[in-house]
Amino acid sequence: MNVKIQIKNLNLWYDKSQCLKNITMDIPEKKVTALIGPSGCGKSTLIRCLNRMNDIIDGCNVEGQILYEKEDINKKNANVVSLRRKIGMVFQKPNPFPKSIWENIAYGPKMQGLKDKKILDKIVEKSLKDSALWDEMYDRLHQSAMGISGGQQQRLCIARALAIEPEVILMDEPCSALDPIATNKIEELIINLKKKYTVVIVTHNMQQASRISDYTAFLYLGKLIEYGKTKEIFEKPQMETTQNYITGRFG
Ligand SMILES: Nc1ncnc2c1ncn2[C@@H]1O[C@H](COP(=O)(O)OP(=O)(O)OP(=O)(O)O)[C@@H](O)[C@H]1O
Ligand SMILES: [Mg+2]
Repeated sequence: MNVKIQIKNLNLWYDKSQCLKNITMDIPEKKVTALIGPSGCGKSTLIRCLNRMNDIIDGCNVEGQILYEKEDINKKNANVVSLRRKIGMVFQKPNPFPKSIWENIAYGPKMQGLKDKKILDKIVEKSLKDSALWDEMYDRLHQSAMGISGGQQQRLCIARALAIEPEVILMDEPCSALDPIATNKIEELIINLKKKYTVVIVTHNMQQASRISDYTAFLYLGKLIEYGKTKEIFEKPQMETTQNYITGRFG
């Protein structure tokens, strides 16, 4: 496997309380990596480290290294804007802008200075196709994004992330606000995305992790307890805590 992101001895504190404890793991390129573990174990914190979204949290301190293409993303002169362009993020609750579907997707490329309407149209079309939304949206591109369903909004947020051509897509519980049918669509979409993108997903849903991910990391109390191929984690976990968690004995 090709490694896309290397996490090395990562420790993180919120003020004095340590939330991530010496995490070392490699995120493989063009695969889906799932982060699982009980509430409060640090999944969101860890995924936010990968595009430095913790920067905006007061009192948050990070030690250790995160290498993206061999460069430490936390080094002093790192370019955070370009990092977030390469590593996009989709959140738990769909959060489209109160603008049209077209504007939601064109927003990122426009911010990067693109003005040509024809090129923007192409990007909107491609992003909607890549997020499996084109067939539902092609005839209503100029309607408000607030008027589409939650599942469609979440795919729109994925389309918006894709529009700036990232390499990695981080998703923190992207399906938790969706019904089973919308969830199914997003799962199929994620399986497709890994042809082109590296995906890291936080999920509480064990079936989801086993259905869509190639690698699974189990976190507990801020520690990485076990990490490996999803099949192995679910079928023959090495650690008793992992076994207990995936069989629903706690969490
Ligand atoms: N901004 C913050 N300031 C202080 N503490 C925080 C902050 N964000 C998270 N924490 C604490 O860090 C720990 C890990 O939180 P985190 O949100 O990463 O967990 P999680 O695994 O994503 O949980 P969940 O499954 O409930 O989303 C928790 O104890 C939480 O209270
Ligand atoms: Mg979380």
